[in-house]
Amino acid sequence: MTNVFEGTVAVVTGGTSGIGYAVSEELLKRGATVWVIGSRQESVEKAQRSLAAYRHARYAAVDVTVADEVKRMIDTCVAGSGRIDYLFNNAGIGMTHPSRHLTLEMWKKAIDLNLWGVVHGTHFALPVMLKQGSGHIVNTSSVAGIIAPPAQTVYCATKYAVTGMTEALRYEFAESGIAFTAVCPANVATAIFAGTEIPKEAIPADEAARIILAGVEKNEAVIIFPEFAKTMYERLSKDPALKDRFMLELARRRNAGWESGVPYLGMPDDIL
Ligand SMILES: NC(=O)c1ccc[n+]([C@@H]2O[C@H](COP(=O)([O-])OP(=O)(O)OC[C@H]3O[C@@H](n4cnc5c(N)ncnc54)[C@H](OP(=O)(O)O)[C@@H]3O)[C@@H](O)[C@H]2O)c1
Repeated sequence: MTNVFEGTVAVVTGGTSGIGYAVSEELLKRGATVWVIGSRQESVEKAQRSLAAYRHARYAAVDVTVADEVKRMIDTCVAGSGRIDYLFNNAGIGMTHPSRHLTLEMWKKAIDLNLWGVVHGTHFALPVMLKQGSGHIVNTSSVAGIIAPPAQTVYCATKYAVTGMTEALRYEFAESGIAFTAVCPANVATAIFAGTEIPKEAIPADEAARIILAGVEKNEAVIIFPEFAKTMYERLSKDPALKDRFMLELARRRNAGWESGVPYLGMPDDIL
């Protein structure tokens, strides 16, 4: 079986934890040089210790919300590895919160990281890839970037933006040799659920990484997973009345969850 990632150079933001860490490790196993990026020095050092067996791993602490830091990151990767074949703009935070209690600081925090982080990476990597005549930018969106669950207002705003920009770029640069993919996971068991219960349907991060790389290898436009999320998306898109019932029930459970102090982060799949 051919291994398309062998000998390539990848940059993974949010590579120190969860999905990004699992993608980094899987790429390293497949023989890629991987720049593993986190924002905090301590998380970078922790990843460095656990990936010590892989000699093609490189590390940097970069805050992707800061344009100059991302520019330096891209310059450093090109100076150190000669090229960038894959950029995974993956760093992000979750936010499920009743909209009437959102502060402007919460809006800004999520937009800065989930949207501007992706914009910065894309902006600075694109000229490098155009010069190379090849490259693949993989932006982590979410299922909440293709359907809009209640109480995820901010998160949806950022993730819909990521899905939209990725699709627009994909067609604009299709004939320039640059590929774009949006990754739309539903629940994956990571630190994003810190402080809450991990939903029962969540899949492990290493499984998510294999699904993502399979989709990237096939140059899929949008990678939706796990399977239940794909089925849910397809059913809700085809049937507006079902979508209304599903979303109203989800809103009801989320509102009740906040009032009782036990947030509801699952999906009312019994409605499907
Ligand atoms: N897990 C899910 O169920 C799920 C579902 C849909 C979409 N997603 C998306 O998947 C992506 C990864 O999430 P995850 O679940 O793997 O979360 P995670 O385990 O919490 O990892 C988040 C990563 O982002 C990094 N990060 C945070 N702020 C950063 C900043 N300002 N600059 C650079 N890096 C920063 C963190 O590194 P430091 O600790 O060093 O800051 C960490 O490596 C996110 O975009 C998320 O929205 C996740």
